[in-house]
Amino acid sequence: MTISGYFAPLKNEEYEFIARACANEKNVTILVLEPKVFFIKLLQKELMGLPVKLETGKKPKGTLLSDAPAASLFDLKDTREASLAAIMKNNRLLKKLIQPMMNEKRYLHSLSVAETAKKLAESHGYDPKRAYRAGLLHDILKKYSEEENDELLRRYNDSHLSAPAQIKHAYTAPYFLREVCHFDDEEILNAIYHHSDGESEDILARILYIADKREPLRKIDDGILETAMVDLEKGYALLEKNVERYLIEKYGVTGVYKNKNR
Ligand SMILES: [Fe+2]
Ligand SMILES: [Fe+2]
Repeated sequence: MTISGYFAPLKNEEYEFIARACANEKNVTILVLEPKVFFIKLLQKELMGLPVKLETGKKPKGTLLSDAPAASLFDLKDTREASLAAIMKNNRLLKKLIQPMMNEKRYLHSLSVAETAKKLAESHGYDPKRAYRAGLLHDILKKYSEEENDELLRRYNDSHLSAPAQIKHAYTAPYFLREVCHFDDEEILNAIYHHSDGESEDILARILYIADKREPLRKIDDGILETAMVDLEKGYALLEKNVERYLIEKYGVTGVYKNKNR
């Protein structure tokens, strides 16, 4: 199957069309019309991970996706947005996006949370790729200072300004991902929002909460992860009790993340 277009920039609908074609067809060729070197390079990056062959030409063949050269050929803002949107759907590229945003330890933790979330997802009939993606992205703003997080909170959701400093990154990351990275998977955003407080009952939120607290690099061998692999709700309940005990021991308070700042 040949898909022709200008792809400068690649639009979300075009990416989705191509990805769907790849799922249904064996040989997908993308014919880029009137190519500019810069956009070809960008397109190669955006389509990375999809089994397509890129060709260039002047006359359309097969399905024509765009019927005129994009008016925004040199509109870099649109290009950046389109390429970011494509990157956000590709776990391999996402690793490259998050690595410079965190230190080595946090990066390895994120990979480990992603792997753990993927395994939990597989055990419970949830999409492992999206669980993996949630793991990769959950601590994307962990490096932000409290002031930086507060600045985002003041702009988007000031009800969390009084949350403990160490969990503010959970409440700001979804706004950053939505506004700056054009990431729109609301279930993943919700799971990230609640990855510190564990307050969402959504299956992906449960998976991410448990994966974050019991990924193997944390070296907490209390059987909770194993329980969660078999029974997610039971694992979650055990973890909640454990977190509660930890809060009482460490801070002398109970429910410091709970009952407020939801
Ligand atoms: Fe976190
Ligand atoms: Fe984390």
